[in-house]
Amino acid sequence: MHNTRPYKGFALNRDGSELADLEVNSSRVAHIPVLAGTLAEQINLPTDGVMVDATIGQGGHSFLFGRKLGPEGVLIGLDVDKDSIQRAHLKLKDLQCRVILIRGNFSQISEQLSAQHIEKVDFILADLGLCSSQLADAKMGLSFQMDSPLDMRIDERLNTTAADIVNKSDEKSLADLIYKFGQDRASRRIARFIVGLRQGRPITTTAQLAAIVCKALQRPGGKKWTRIHPATRTFQALRIAVNNELENLEKLLDVAPKLLNKSGHIAIISYHSLEDRLVKNNFKQNKKENVYSDCTKKPIVPSRQEIVENPRARSAKLRIAQKS
Ligand SMILES: C[S@@+](CC[C@H](N)C(=O)[O-])C[C@H]1O[C@@H](n2cnc3c(N)ncnc32)[C@H](O)[C@@H]1O
Repeated sequence: MHNTRPYKGFALNRDGSELADLEVNSSRVAHIPVLAGTLAEQINLPTDGVMVDATIGQGGHSFLFGRKLGPEGVLIGLDVDKDSIQRAHLKLKDLQCRVILIRGNFSQISEQLSAQHIEKVDFILADLGLCSSQLADAKMGLSFQMDSPLDMRIDERLNTTAADIVNKSDEKSLADLIYKFGQDRASRRIARFIVGLRQGRPITTTAQLAAIVCKALQRPGGKKWTRIHPATRTFQALRIAVNNELENLEKLLDVAPKLLNKSGHIAIISYHSLEDRLVKNNFKQNKKENVYSDCTKKPIVPSRQEIVENPRARSAKLRIAQKS
């Protein structure tokens, strides 16, 4: 367990950053904000600043920045998941600044801000991926570690579930998807097994799918195929597809320069190379065109100590850019 000590109703991580640890519907899953100390060092918000947390989650990062804002400051939080909005509300309700929480997709950040009559902001933060509480939420069906319905929608208003994709796609589309979003070289073999085994018995649970992928990748003598669980990449691919993750990120990156004040910052924490590549290329191109005056040359990664304390941080990459 993490080394924590109680402090004003929250718990403190060893580096002093608070843990988002709140009770919602009697479930209690802590989400530790990743690279929080580094972000706080890099971004200096004026007390009357305007910040958008495009992925508010449990409000961990927002709390750290929000408490530096005074009564004239504004913190806008977006999240597609309604439980995240509830949790963030509990965490942020006592901040001095104006807090606006909106259930919405960051791909529509412009529309969300104009609806609040906000044109420009000083800081946009997106901590991509999922909260620990979402991974632990059986109804979301995101993890192969437990058996749950094969859903994977973070926003239940979306129409297509992972089960729809797995049961309705033809073999080639399925293989392409697992290759493109999961970067799994065994994608064709996995797709063949899925299509073969779904005949007469649709795949409706995470355990069923995980078992099929394991079977597809089984090596003679029961030897392990990879260091990671064989279903990791297939699950990643389906989650990215179901939630349009890369498309949403591209939209956010495209619109961000128009929303940032001069010298304002955008910071993105990504958790897999597909996301990080989009961020890297976008920042680089915008720097070349003088839209951004500066951007992180190499991604900032968590320290060894942070990874020990929060293993979820191990794949995190932070990139920051500053508007010219
Ligand atoms: C890693 S968590 C953020 C945790 C947060 N930084 C904290 O410290 O508590 C990512 C959050 O982004 C949300 N999310 C994912 N895609 C989104 C999107 N396109 N628009 C808005 N929220 C999104 C998820 O529902 C999740 O709550």
